[in-house]
Amino acid sequence: MNISITKTTCPKEKPEASTLGFGKFFTDHMFMMDYSREEGWHGARIVPFAPLSLHPASTVLHYGSEIFEGLKAYRRADGKVQMFRPIENIRRMNRSAERMCLPQIPEEMALEVLTTFVKMEEDWTPSAPGTSLYLRPFMYGNDETLGVHAVHNATYVIIASPVGSYYKEGINPVRIMIESEDVRAVRGGTGEAKCGGNYAASNRAGERAEQKGYSQVLWLDGVHRKYIEEVGAMNVMFKIAGEVVTPMLSGSILPGITRKSCIEVLKSKGYKVSERLISIDELAEAMQNGTLEEAWGCGTAAVVSPIGELCYKDVKYPVNNGQIGEVTQMLYDTLTGIQWGKVEDTFGWILEL
Ligand code: PLP
Ligand code: COI
Repeated sequence: MNISITKTTCPKEKPEASTLGFGKFFTDHMFMMDYSREEGWHGARIVPFAPLSLHPASTVLHYGSEIFEGLKAYRRADGKVQMFRPIENIRRMNRSAERMCLPQIPEEMALEVLTTFVKMEEDWTPSAPGTSLYLRPFMYGNDETLGVHAVHNATYVIIASPVGSYYKEGINPVRIMIESEDVRAVRGGTGEAKCGGNYAASNRAGERAEQKGYSQVLWLDGVHRKYIEEVGAMNVMFKIAGEVVTPMLSGSILPGITRKSCIEVLKSKGYKVSERLISIDELAEAMQNGTLEEAWGCGTAAVVSPIGELCYKDVKYPVNNGQIGEVTQMLYDTLTGIQWGKVEDTFGWILEL
């Protein structure tokens, strides 16, 4: 596909690795293309990073027609840059698009524009331990009319941000609050799509948790408020009495690519993993009687993040004495090893640039 390239005339200085944090700095360029029902996808271009121009009636501003993805490019010790399972993000974005009545992008086209853009911004991939180039593809509806309907016009953009760890704790265990009032999603809703509205709806509970010193909330299902779903920006897994359990993909949680990868790693190493309903009562009992051995979250931004404390209805439960557990550590080492090219990728997950 023809991608026009306009290079910036004023390249920015690259930030120090110690100042990166998450999503604060952006590279010099961004990728954009437009969709209309008449023309399909057109106008593919890489342009200097700059504010977007939006019509005040644009669909995204009023009716929230927006979806996004998150994946990373990693710098290996030999200096080369590689991505982790980008095709999975491309496929999930198309599933989100279908749910939100936004246009899908043919897989080959999506992969071509992503790799062309990442190659252009390759120099921005940091090399310090634990750092990477976070890629944020997103799409929004921009019909210039206030009628409510499936969009006829959309824009697809990819921006990139050199990042360090998502949580200030880094690999140290985070504290998570189990939310008993607000809910994030219900089956049949948009919970399994990666759309901006899911995150907007999560913010109130997230704020309350933060005020009490917790990093994020763990959601319960929206119907019974009984079954464990996922954490704000990651899926969740537990080791209970020797068995790894994780909520099954019920239609209201995000089908995480890190979740899927953790399950594949665990199974390849002979662990039994159950994807099933986990009730808050079962978890509370395991927390009380000490059979909850480990808890961790997993996601692209959060990587594999040990959970050191869970709080439910103001009762605090330390997990594994606030320490990272053996399985959590193994998953962290294996996944980050593959991602940064230190461990052989026997799964075929890596796409070298
Ligand atoms: N759940 C939510 C709500 C998320 O935002 C994320 C992050 O993308 C995940 C789970 C983990 O998904 P993935 O591993 O694909 O990044
Ligand atoms: C990711 O891990 O890529 C996410 O999208 C989480 C994000 C909401 C920070």
